[in-house]
Amino acid sequence: MNRGGVERLMLLAMLLGTASAANESLSLGNIVADLPERYDETQLWRIHNISDAMRQYMPVGQLMEQKFGGNIWKENSKFLDISIGKEHLKAARNFLDAHHLEPQILADNVQSLIDEELLDGVQATSSLPGTRTKKASRSGSGMHWKDYHDLDTIYAFMREVRAKYPNIVRLYTIGQTAEGRDLKVLRISENPREYKKVWIDGGIHAREWISPATVTFILFQLMHNWENQPAHIRGLTWYIMPMMNPDGYEYSRTVNRLWRKNRSGPRRADCYGVDLNRNFDIGWNGFGSSKDPCSDVFRGTSAASELETQAVADFLAKRKYNLEAYLTYHSYGQLVVYPWAYKAVKVRDAAVLQRVASTAVERIAQKTGSTYRASVTHEVLGIAGGGSDDWSRDALGVKYVYTVELRDRGTYGFVLPPKFIKDTALEGWTVAETVAQSIG
Ligand code: ARG
Ligand code: ZN
Repeated sequence: MNRGGVERLMLLAMLLGTASAANESLSLGNIVADLPERYDETQLWRIHNISDAMRQYMPVGQLMEQKFGGNIWKENSKFLDISIGKEHLKAARNFLDAHHLEPQILADNVQSLIDEELLDGVQATSSLPGTRTKKASRSGSGMHWKDYHDLDTIYAFMREVRAKYPNIVRLYTIGQTAEGRDLKVLRISENPREYKKVWIDGGIHAREWISPATVTFILFQLMHNWENQPAHIRGLTWYIMPMMNPDGYEYSRTVNRLWRKNRSGPRRADCYGVDLNRNFDIGWNGFGSSKDPCSDVFRGTSAASELETQAVADFLAKRKYNLEAYLTYHSYGQLVVYPWAYKAVKVRDAAVLQRVASTAVERIAQKTGSTYRASVTHEVLGIAGGGSDDWSRDALGVKYVYTVELRDRGTYGFVLPPKFIKDTALEGWTVAETVAQSIG
């Protein structure tokens, strides 16, 4: 650990206010160990007013990615969120100036967001046995929604659910990743042959930690009083995959908090990873992705080139009979969107999908006060091919296909402090509940 890390560690020990914490700096070290990749004085910018004309001949985001090592957080028809390292701030600003663009500064130090996220989690769980990275030794998996968890804890929670309801729960390992981790799916059903099916996944993008947190919460909501669930929930077969990209997730927890892709490769010197949500076999070679292995939206060398994509696609293709809903959780932006994303066209039954999404959005507003927006994908996020959502509609004919962009709207972005997990997860659950009800 570097010096700054040690200082922050002592500060943490003081904030936690326990003598033992100060003494046992080794165990605290486990809690707050700095990630190798740092973002000191990296700024997060929002760039508005990028005209369509400009976009045509100059994809501002990708250019800034290449020129200034920028890290694209979010790109849509209204704005671009991109973080720029300290040493490139001046040049990046000059570049924008030259194109009559002015950045709005969302955060002036991304590292402090990452530190705040960590501290919030440590404080929220300091009264619990165990530490942030070590599993609590209490009952079973030690799962809770006061903080984000490592993959082991999430998989332990899935096993715990199966152990508790062996008659209705099945746990599948549907494949392995490039780094050899299992890909796991739970099925919950009282009648798998006949009931209509809902698929829910999370964690396609590594840095969107709120996504697997939300999907595990949905699992908890379903199961903790399964017997009392209404018929429209108990009468479905639920497939739940909290983590589609375990390699990327672990990498984002241990090396680089802002990692997005999986960890296959490298294809070029030191450039790893494919954007799994650009790798599905739908409009794969089209807009919104890159053929550059170093890009954050690298689509892969061919459609479904990635083990994660293959595992999910094969698993679902075999189960497409009765598959009524495909829900996939991402962050951030507070949106509920439906196909298409790969072309600027709506699906035939867009009116139905819009109505259900609007209902979910209204219920969210009542429950937590958050404002979400319901829309067709390409209108609010721009055109992008290779998405799992479009693929499930096109290849499997799933009706209720939604991508949910969870909190927030750019204050913390991906680095959402753990104190927001519960309410955000409740918002995610509300979408699932509403869709289940619509299937009827
Ligand atoms: N933020 C998500 C992504 O960039 C949005 C996914 C929307 N669907 C899509 N097929 N692009 O992957
Ligand atoms: Zn995402």
